[in-house]
Amino acid sequence: MAKPGILGRSSSMPRSNEGMRLVFSAVIGIMLGYLFGISFPTVNITKLHFPSSIVSYIEDRNSGITTQTLLNHAWTSANSHKKNNSDSKSDEIPKIYVTSNPKGAERLPPGIVVSETDLYLRRLWGEPSEDLTIQPKYLVTFTVGIAQKANIDAAVKKFSENFTIMLFHYDGRTTEWDEFEWSKRAIHVSVSKQTKWWYAKRFLHPDVVARYDYIFIWDEDLGVQHFNAEEYIKLVRKHGLEISQPGLEPDRGLTWQMTKRRGDREVHKVTEERPGWCSDPHLPPCAAFVEIMATVFSRDAWRCVWHMIQNDLIHGWGLDFALRKCVEPAHEKIGVVDAQWIVHQGVPSLGNQGKSENGRAPWEGVRGRCRKEWGIFQARLADAEKKYYLDQGITPPNSTSV
Ligand SMILES: *[C@@H]1O[C@H](CO)[C@@H](O)[C@H](O)[C@H]1NC(C)=O
Ligand SMILES: *[C@@H]1O[C@H](CO)[C@@H](O)[C@H](O)[C@H]1NC(C)=O
Ligand SMILES: *[C@@H]1O[C@H](CO)[C@@H](O)[C@H](O)[C@H]1NC(C)=O
Repeated sequence: MAKPGILGRSSSMPRSNEGMRLVFSAVIGIMLGYLFGISFPTVNITKLHFPSSIVSYIEDRNSGITTQTLLNHAWTSANSHKKNNSDSKSDEIPKIYVTSNPKGAERLPPGIVVSETDLYLRRLWGEPSEDLTIQPKYLVTFTVGIAQKANIDAAVKKFSENFTIMLFHYDGRTTEWDEFEWSKRAIHVSVSKQTKWWYAKRFLHPDVVARYDYIFIWDEDLGVQHFNAEEYIKLVRKHGLEISQPGLEPDRGLTWQMTKRRGDREVHKVTEERPGWCSDPHLPPCAAFVEIMATVFSRDAWRCVWHMIQNDLIHGWGLDFALRKCVEPAHEKIGVVDAQWIVHQGVPSLGNQGKSENGRAPWEGVRGRCRKEWGIFQARLADAEKKYYLDQGITPPNSTSV
């Protein structure tokens, strides 16, 4: 461990710090912002008996590096103190290993384990406990390109301060959004040309969004004149919908009867389709079914759906038919909210971001990929179910996936 400190500033420090510093740099460097909030107030400088020159050095600086120095010293001091104290007992103290901790964290005392986090923005100063004046209970995400700026502005304004706003930018243009007041409290994730399920899989891990009762994962081309998010959530709670979407304005080209808005009710959970389309009135597309353009998940439903999203399938075709695997009974917990409805404007967006190949227009390549994914997903799901039943020694039923 004779390497120089990672920060190249260790010459004035005692030797014994260096190995430890390497470890700390690697592990804690990433999390410095977080640790700063927790550790700084609890480290009592006088109690640790720092040489006064170090104290003033630390206080003179205001970068993250000094926090690290402080941590290093706190650690050394606590460590040598403990060693001195526990010479005779060290053999008797068992190592911590808690099997009920989250996988991989068994060596931590359970009291320090924080297995879920949130997307709440914090301050860099002040009391950590006073950072959050409001803790939104709902999350709404839009996958956006700058061309839909006005539309997204209108949509976001339908969501109160009880919502965390998250934008997934597929065109790399994020600064233009700053003209909107709400943009400052929004979370912006910018990755070139990905789809909303790609973003959702990577940035909406169930443990990260665990604070939200409901998660809206929406497209950018939805008209929201007749939509109120708080009212929507009231209806979803009232009718016990774990997976839902607002009714769609019937005048526009619709594919499914199920998602069409009904004028005479709050929600609906079943529909009639064209003859022969539904083998079972409780199965898609007659029930247990919503589309993926404006889906709303409960916390529990999302935890399941997140696990079903495949890393290489990004358009999500076929996912809508499989959502029902995540709730039981699906025909009661999946439904369409008619009283708060939207218009699907169907503007071309990511569909046009494909690549022209073999003389085919970009959108054709995207469409082809969508279909291919659907086939792959169907096969994987059917195979996985079959394998499960065989492993259990049960004759597999004929595939139930659509
Ligand atoms: C360390 O141990 C020595 C001898 O056992 C003792 O005199 C001293 O007070 C101890 N120091 C601390 C910090 O406990
Ligand atoms: C936000 O949530 C609180 C608590 O549920 C509620 O009282 C308040 O009306 C909500 N805000 C809006 C704008 O609906
Ligand atoms: C299941 O599939 C087999 C072969 O495809 C068919 O013979 C059988 O009738 C099916 N069973 C049911 C219950 O649909």
